[in-house]
Amino acid sequence: MLSTLLLAAARSRRTRDLVTSVPLTRGVVDRFVAGDDLDAAIEVVRELRRDGLKVTLDHLGEDTVEREQAAVVRDAYLDMFAAFEEHGLARGADASVKLSALGQALDGALALDHAREICAAAGRVGVTVTLDMEDHTTVDSTLEILGKLRVDFPWVGVAVQAMLRRTAGDLRDLVGEGSRVRLVKGAYAEPASVAFQGKRDVDRAYVRGLRILMRGDGYPMIGSHDPRMIDIALALAVERAPSSYEFQMLYGIRSDEQRRLAEAHQMRVYVPYGADWYGYFMRRLAERPANLVFFLRSFVNR
Ligand code: FDA
Repeated sequence: MLSTLLLAAARSRRTRDLVTSVPLTRGVVDRFVAGDDLDAAIEVVRELRRDGLKVTLDHLGEDTVEREQAAVVRDAYLDMFAAFEEHGLARGADASVKLSALGQALDGALALDHAREICAAAGRVGVTVTLDMEDHTTVDSTLEILGKLRVDFPWVGVAVQAMLRRTAGDLRDLVGEGSRVRLVKGAYAEPASVAFQGKRDVDRAYVRGLRILMRGDGYPMIGSHDPRMIDIALALAVERAPSSYEFQMLYGIRSDEQRRLAEAHQMRVYVPYGADWYGYFMRRLAERPANLVFFLRSFVNR
């Protein structure tokens, strides 16, 4: 119930204005977001790399409704790749991209063009790209764009959400040789007609997804902080070479576990940065009510 409210608030302009206008919010946001600008993000990437962690960097932003803004987002990614190279951090790095930030809802062809430019620039410096998955209405379009991008850039990956009823079918289509697929539980409020609702059903669907991924010929990316899902993934991966899959977690969540896993496995941290943190932050609050308590307490204790 609370998480549904928070996810609805994540899409409300009025709540966005309210939450982002309070300076104190920053302290809590900083737990999940690497900073407002690229310099801050690069500093965080450097620290994570020092600790043996790989990264996927996300320039925050979503639901772009103006063509000019879509071009600004594309340019932010081009700057990101230039910075990766300048600081010697490009090797093994990945960039996470939300197609809605590139104008997907406005014009699919525009989002594809921008995504192509991003992939071409990433490829030149040896960085891979992974498409985030957004709410269920975008899945067909995202998979279609993925297919087109993979013709020229076969290393482009995609996230799929276990909570969606369609995902097992999508996964079967996606796990061919060379594919990079990140399995996550799903962070959006979705109706029961398209998505499993309770944690138990979502977890079961996640395990089904893990089985398909691990039996497939692609490169599984296990995006979860859930110790049970991680144990099951490890059990399913016993026959696989450690270099043939990786774990992924979000910046600021179970950081000790990230470092522990990195001792024996490939571990990648999803690092978001940028001024447009509202939607991302609200989804993190929705995932864990304790985060909301922490957030509200920072107001009471001021
Ligand atoms: P679950 O929610 O069951 O949490 C398991 C445990 O992890 C909790 O008990 C808690 O200890 C910890 N935890 C989880 N979330 C926390 C939080 N916010 N704060 C503090 N602790 C927390 N979603 C999506 O729809 N599209 C996408 O493209 C992506 N991309 C993505 C990339 C990566 C690398 C990750 C790890 C996740 C995503 N997600 C995503 C988010 C994903 O769908 C999901 O909402 C979160 O990962 C939470 O689910 P868990 O699998 O961690 O399990």
